[in-house]
Amino acid sequence: MSGEWQRVAARTDVREGDAIAVTVGEQEIALYGVDGEVYATANICTHGHARLCEGYLEGNEIECPLHQGRFDVTNGQPTLEPVTESIKTFPVKIEDGQVLLLIE
Ligand code: FES
Repeated sequence: MSGEWQRVAARTDVREGDAIAVTVGEQEIALYGVDGEVYATANICTHGHARLCEGYLEGNEIECPLHQGRFDVTNGQPTLEPVTESIKTFPVKIEDGQVLLLIE
């Protein structure tokens, strides 16, 4: 994948079991703290216009706040209907206490 690593948050901003939103250019991206790692997906659900950062993170699954569909945040795959379409994920790396995302 080609693209550019961009710093989007401090590592300490992403707490375990929590989701936050960041904006990169025009893209809204959600960051999740899961098992000591940080994962990133598009923030807008593939089923409707809902922000996943406002949903409920349980383990590696984010539950959409609108219709309670779920995605696996580690790979973007849908895990519970009504979501059927996967959500975009972004490679993450941590450097000097900062969260960097690879943005195409
Ligand atoms: S908008 Fe997310 S499940 Fe419907």
